[in-house]
Amino acid sequence: MPILDRFNLTGRRALITGGSRGLGLEMARALGEAGAELVIAGSDEAHLQNARDTLRSEGLSVTTIQADLSKPEAAERLCDVVLKEHAPIDILINNVGGRRINTPTEDLALEDWQRIIDLNLTQAFILTKRLGGAMIPRKWGRVINLASINALWPGKAMRGRSYEAAKGALTMFTKAVAADWAVHGITVNAIAPGPFLTDANKRWIGEKPEFEGEVAASIPMGRWGRPDEIGPLALYLASEASSFMTGSVLVIDGGKLLW
Ligand SMILES: NC(=O)c1ccc[n+]([C@@H]2O[C@H](COP(=O)([O-])OP(=O)(O)OC[C@H]3O[C@@H](n4cnc5c(N)ncnc54)[C@H](OP(=O)(O)O)[C@@H]3O)[C@@H](O)[C@H]2O)c1
Repeated sequence: MPILDRFNLTGRRALITGGSRGLGLEMARALGEAGAELVIAGSDEAHLQNARDTLRSEGLSVTTIQADLSKPEAAERLCDVVLKEHAPIDILINNVGGRRINTPTEDLALEDWQRIIDLNLTQAFILTKRLGGAMIPRKWGRVINLASINALWPGKAMRGRSYEAAKGALTMFTKAVAADWAVHGITVNAIAPGPFLTDANKRWIGEKPEFEGEVAASIPMGRWGRPDEIGPLALYLASEASSFMTGSVLVIDGGKLLW
């Protein structure tokens, strides 16, 4: 197959959670430009509508579903809707997540710990189980989990260690399911981004303006990642191009983990 054809997603349908903004939106755009039909989920209807209008104006095929994935029961309901109205899903990107809190462990309330574990890990388990599980009879599928460099290394600037715990667990879940499902033609990989300038990080910068320069200076490339720089990596993992890759954790961080 010619090399660029291996990246072609015509005839594939992809669900991207948190596809209305940030890294999720850029991964959705990349897969859509490669020919995939897009289904994007997010919690805020206005953000979803904005993403839908933007992506459609670029000629892409996109459907949106509102779901608050911080709640496991809402993740189950999303799966019900997707399996009933949008099946089959060939490519699942579990992108929803975030640190949300900057509280030291000695002060971290159990409810906050659980909330972050549910947001970053539990819903990804539910979607992988149900939507990834539905790929098994079709003998082809792609599951891509958004971990973080904080799955591999505790961030210095920020506390809220439930985030490191959840992303670390998501990384090992990725590897274990990859091993189990390789026989079914389903690959399961994780992306571990370093600092990207998305709304989530702009919020932290809003609270502490010097954070922007401090983080840039801690990266060998001397700058934050642009959200669109994650699209090509997601396309690689979503397509035939990555046919012999599973259980991998791909770091994309401007070299941050080198220092
Ligand atoms: N940005 C980084 O530097 C970085 C670094 C390492 C890892 N990551 C990981 O990459 C992923 C994306 O990060 P990001 O920075 O792009 O995040 P973001 O800017 O906060 O965007 C998050 C996306 O997820 C959706 N979302 C948030 N909470 C949700 C919920 N409870 N239910 C459903 N949808 C929800 C948002 O939609 P609404 O507008 O509807 O809320 C939005 O589309 C996360 O898993 C994050 O941990 C990011």
